[in-house]
Amino acid sequence: MKRVIAIVRPEKMEVLKEALFAADVSGMTIAQVHGCGNQHGWKEFYRGTEVLINMVQKVKFELVVDDAKVEELVELICDIAATGEVGDGKIFISPVEEVVRIRTRERGADAV
Ligand SMILES: Nc1ncnc2c1ncn2[C@@H]1O[C@H](COP(=O)(O)OP(=O)(O)OP(=O)(O)O)[C@@H](O)[C@H]1O
Ligand SMILES: [Mg+2]
Repeated sequence: MKRVIAIVRPEKMEVLKEALFAADVSGMTIAQVHGCGNQHGWKEFYRGTEVLINMVQKVKFELVVDDAKVEELVELICDIAATGEVGDGKIFISPVEEVVRIRTRERGADAV
């Protein structure tokens, strides 16, 4: 099992959520977050002074899926979230050791 974390533009939230449902994922967690990447934010004028807004609003999707599902999801997320401009977001993939469904105490792939 793998955890797929995708940080994307807020305006992509609805369409990405629907696409992930259509791809038959078993669950997901979504959070509104603030972050920055390579550019360390963006510049804006405030009362005539240029200020650096470091933390930009993004949406974080977190999904735990079978290994075999990861590449399909990466393709899907990239297809939907990309605009070609800086700030399109990132995907982080890491192993998950164990999953427990609290109601049934099922474990592992059965519990995903
Ligand atoms: N190395 C990182 N660690 C944790 N979060 C990150 C990292 N890089 C990016 N993020 C998160 O992803 C969001 C989008 O990052 P972003 O797409 O700007 O990455 P980038 O490396 O600057 O790429 P680009 O040059 O295309 O903008 C950030 O606002 C932040 O929330
Ligand atoms: Mg960036």
